[in-house]
Amino acid sequence: MADYEQGDIKMTTVELPKSENGLHGTLTVPGDKSISHRSIMLGAISHGTTVVNHFLLSDDCLHTIGAFRELGVAIAVDGDQVTIEGKGGFNHFTKPTKPLDMGNSGTSTRLLLGFLSHQPFDIDLFGDASLSKRPLDRVIKPLAKMGVHVTATDDNFLPVTLHANPRLRGLDYQLPVASAQVKSALIWAGLQAEQPSHLTEKLITRDHTEKMIAQFGGHLEQDGLEITVTPQDHFEAQQITVPGDISSAAFFLVAAACVPGSQITLKQVGLNQTRDGILKALDQMNAHYTITNRSTDSEPAGDITIGYQALTALKLGAKDIPAVVDEVPLIVLAATQARGTTVITGAEELRVKETDRIATVTEELTKMGAKITPQPDGFIIEGGTKLHTATTPLDSHGDHRIGMMLAVANLIAGGNSVLNNADSISVSYPEFFNDLDQLR
Ligand code: S3P
Repeated sequence: MADYEQGDIKMTTVELPKSENGLHGTLTVPGDKSISHRSIMLGAISHGTTVVNHFLLSDDCLHTIGAFRELGVAIAVDGDQVTIEGKGGFNHFTKPTKPLDMGNSGTSTRLLLGFLSHQPFDIDLFGDASLSKRPLDRVIKPLAKMGVHVTATDDNFLPVTLHANPRLRGLDYQLPVASAQVKSALIWAGLQAEQPSHLTEKLITRDHTEKMIAQFGGHLEQDGLEITVTPQDHFEAQQITVPGDISSAAFFLVAAACVPGSQITLKQVGLNQTRDGILKALDQMNAHYTITNRSTDSEPAGDITIGYQALTALKLGAKDIPAVVDEVPLIVLAATQARGTTVITGAEELRVKETDRIATVTEELTKMGAKITPQPDGFIIEGGTKLHTATTPLDSHGDHRIGMMLAVANLIAGGNSVLNNADSISVSYPEFFNDLDQLR
């Protein structure tokens, strides 16, 4: 594995690729980011050796690996197979000798605040400039009710110190935001508390933490939006295979649906129902795709085949957003090509992602001729727009998903746009351009 260079700031500009006759062929996208992060966490506290196949070796997940190595966990990486020597509980970590580097990873940061909330030593966490602007009070406040003391910059931001904490109280809490990161942080803390915790979600969010806890022999009670977490510390190491990341597959699904002549198959893409909003959005747009070779593992997966077709406008509201939260930039792009006007509301969480995605999507796609009116909580998009080469260089703004969405926009435009800050794509998909080359 190439060592991750801390603090290495690269600014790359790339000429975005074109496709002459659409996208064709078969591709296996890299492993799911959310599941990869969680596999390191559960592997670290389990009894025995966990082997994770098809792990996502992207910058974000390497920061989770780096943090656990710093906590004394032996983790070996061989290709995309990761082996974790479990510590057999939450309380056998060693005190880090330096602050834990979260890089750009909001998932590592939020989840670790809960996961490490019951350690006998202080832990410092820091991240890059973008991550240091993203709110943490959504996790810090409920953790404080459990007795956890976090010193954060302006009570809300990295860098933070998570203070040594000998006692954790159970929590009764209604989550004010629909966030799997917050839910997961509180589940990790709840497992270590002295009393049971009752969490009520605002809307159903991705349930990878819950599923993986069950897979490793733990037990949570779930009833609709309510989750009861009882204290438990015994998890058994597992052999798992991470399905392809539907959030990465989504770039090719939208590209194939929008670039004339395309027909592609994406193998073993994760189909967890709390994550498949992109497929439901494509259904609403009258796109046709087929799913074959379905697996029924703890995390379901299947092969998705899709080709070019005429799309129609769609409506997305608050209840639709959690299952598609990372794919909204792509849906906006697809909507520029669809017949009719698309309205997306209830998506205010996009304002606190790696960038303010309502602003960055609008700014960048407008350079290519898109007609988008940003709203406080979403977008209004005029469909049937012919996109062209960007009038000024495109910019990822340091946001991986904006960078990849713009690459797809350039394919649709058949243009010659250039993309600044393209290196940010390695946060979730280091091989994105190579994989795209396989299909075009
Ligand atoms: C994630 C949850 C989502 C998502 C992020 C990954 C996770 O964030 O946007 O990319 O792995 O739990 P929020 O919980 O902030 O919605």
